[in-house]
Amino acid sequence: MQETILELKNIKKHYPIKRGFLKRSAGFVRAVDNVDLSIRKGENLGLVGESGCGKTTLARVILKLIEADSGRIIFRSNDITALSNRRMRSIRKNLQIVFQDPFSSLDPRFTVRNIIKEAFIFFPDWDKNKIESRIEELIATVILPKDSLGRYPYEFSGGERQRIAIARSLVSNPELLILDEAVSSLDVIVQAQILELLKDLQKRLGLTYLFISHNLRIIRKICSQVAVMYLGKIVEKASTEELFNNPLHPYTDLLLTAAIKFKAEVKKEISASTDSFGGCCFYPRCNLRQHICKQQEPPLKELSPGHFVACHFPINKKP
Ligand SMILES: Nc1ncnc2c1ncn2[C@@H]1O[C@H](COP(=O)(O)OP(=O)(O)OP(=O)(O)O)[C@@H](O)[C@H]1O
Ligand code: SF4
Ligand SMILES: [Mg+2]
Repeated sequence: MQETILELKNIKKHYPIKRGFLKRSAGFVRAVDNVDLSIRKGENLGLVGESGCGKTTLARVILKLIEADSGRIIFRSNDITALSNRRMRSIRKNLQIVFQDPFSSLDPRFTVRNIIKEAFIFFPDWDKNKIESRIEELIATVILPKDSLGRYPYEFSGGERQRIAIARSLVSNPELLILDEAVSSLDVIVQAQILELLKDLQKRLGLTYLFISHNLRIIRKICSQVAVMYLGKIVEKASTEELFNNPLHPYTDLLLTAAIKFKAEVKKEISASTDSFGGCCFYPRCNLRQHICKQQEPPLKELSPGHFVACHFPINKKP
């Protein structure tokens, strides 16, 4: 079995809600609520859930762009939870992220060459020639012509801009790449091309992906494991094949069968989740709920090898 690269233990991140003229505290949004997850080397873990369920917050906590309220982040057997910014620098090399919207993440005032060059902050002793040849190598790696380097972000299509963002994320030879809705804004054909590129890079560079998306169809194409998130909690985790063939959580079943159009509804429930409600987070929407679900939060339990679910009455569609 491959070694574990990243382990999250009991991660919690709650945001205070301020209301009214005096900005009084009116509770918390439980953006990430006691999340346990681990990713093994070479594995692609898909993190799926509706808008607002806490996916980006979790990614930012992993990268230590924001501090978790509690819990532990263990990267390659090192507890990085409390590392200072300075000591985090050498770790950050190994942990990179690509965001959804390459237009806002690429500075429009810079040429592609300068955009990629910025990421060489990790290699302060490299000279100009070494940097230039590495930039050329990276632009070829993401299958863009060399003359792209002298052009500006607005001169590229969405898919090409995402290739530039990926090239930049590879500068430091990361081990774990977090892709946060990285193909969501692209049309289906370009999406497929970027997914192919990611698979190819993985084979060649030995990368590991945490692939965040609200779209299970995309997750299925690239991930070997899937974690389903709902209102800050992981409610189900299994191999991709197992999750698609045998979903156990009512929410996963809903994701698989229904078209998702819930943004407003989720917001409504997030405010519900700010109450000190001790039961199952999915209770308000669940067709299978019973009295106990409102009173006791279901723990994430391993029901069959590698298949975890947090539900008192898991569904089982197997004959
Ligand atoms: N800085 C912040 N301050 C207060 N609340 C925040 C902050 N960032 C996120 N939130 C809230 O935390 C919850 C989780 O947000 P997050 O961006 O992590 O969700 P997401 O799953 O990435 O959503 P999307 O699919 O839309 O990107 C949301 O209710 C959001 O409004
Ligand atoms: S614990 Fe109860 S309310 Fe929650 S998902 Fe399971 S059946 Fe539904
Ligand atoms: Mg997000």
